[in-house]
Amino acid sequence: MKYLNLVNGDSLPMLGLGTWKSAPGVVGKAIREAITMGYRHIDCAYIYANEVEIGLALKEAIAAGDVKREDLWITSKLWNNAHQESRVQAALQTSLKRLQLDYLDLYLIHWPVAVREDVEFPTSGDDFVSLEEIPLSETWRGMEAIAKSGLSKHIGVSNFSVKKLDDLLNHCQVRPAVNQVEAHPLLKQQKLKDFCDKHNIIVTAYSPLGSLDRSKQMKIENEPSMLEMKTVVDIAQKMNITPAQVLISWSMCRGMSVIPKSTNPERMQLNLDCVNIDLDDDDMKELDALDKHFRYINAKFFELPGSPYTAKGIWDE
Ligand code: A2P
Repeated sequence: MKYLNLVNGDSLPMLGLGTWKSAPGVVGKAIREAITMGYRHIDCAYIYANEVEIGLALKEAIAAGDVKREDLWITSKLWNNAHQESRVQAALQTSLKRLQLDYLDLYLIHWPVAVREDVEFPTSGDDFVSLEEIPLSETWRGMEAIAKSGLSKHIGVSNFSVKKLDDLLNHCQVRPAVNQVEAHPLLKQQKLKDFCDKHNIIVTAYSPLGSLDRSKQMKIENEPSMLEMKTVVDIAQKMNITPAQVLISWSMCRGMSVIPKSTNPERMQLNLDCVNIDLDDDDMKELDALDKHFRYINAKFFELPGSPYTAKGIWDE
């Protein structure tokens, strides 16, 4: 495994298993197999609605002696309906209970978007709460309390722009350890990566393969398939690896951690094998040249009529 060092000396396994869209009935088995293969970093979230099954699998893996808790890195995320400072700890406790854990390694604000307490995924403009009503600075105070309590060893954010990170750094007491964002050769995120490097914030790349298994509603018409792009396929053939391995290795070669999702043991193993793949400078340059600032997860699903949020406002671009 390759690791990234955190400011306090802890280390984050660069390659993790994504669990968004990993279906109930399948995800538990995938977690057990992943741990046996050597995965040590599992990326979870309340909203993925599979933490109960993941928790059972983690408990079984630890009880069977497959892994020790302290050798695992478990991330979860605060959902948009618990952004009030007073609700953050209860939300974390829900994830901890489901995951059957005493502590998390990392807890992230999932989105810089708030919805009403009784809403899970918003379906109308009325479901949202604006950032004027619950500022991110308030949510972050709740996150800081968690870091101080030890219920999560580290805290961080997800889907934060340079602007939102900069605002956070200007008022925080505990600095975010990680910003988890979409990143792949079509969305290189260079400015964000440079900013995070400067401030010792690790970038974790989500949707490194373009999240092919998103629901139809979340897909964009005629979206590109990175796995079929000539540059990616040519490098894969030259190196005798798969196109997916090219994409995953690209993230790690840029110093980002990366969390490809799979529940298929063969593909999980191929993805894990990327920790031993180094792309050379020429290949990296060719892949970097694919950058179009294209997002598969464009946040337009938060742009409902009457919503205070727009994709432009979320990404600050
Ligand atoms: P599966 O779970 O059946 O393996 P992302 O991580 O960008 O969200 O992408 C996840 C999608 O990519 C899922 O559809 C997953 O399917 C698929 N996938 C994961 N690993 C590979 C791989 N090595 N080769 C091809 N597709 C993969």
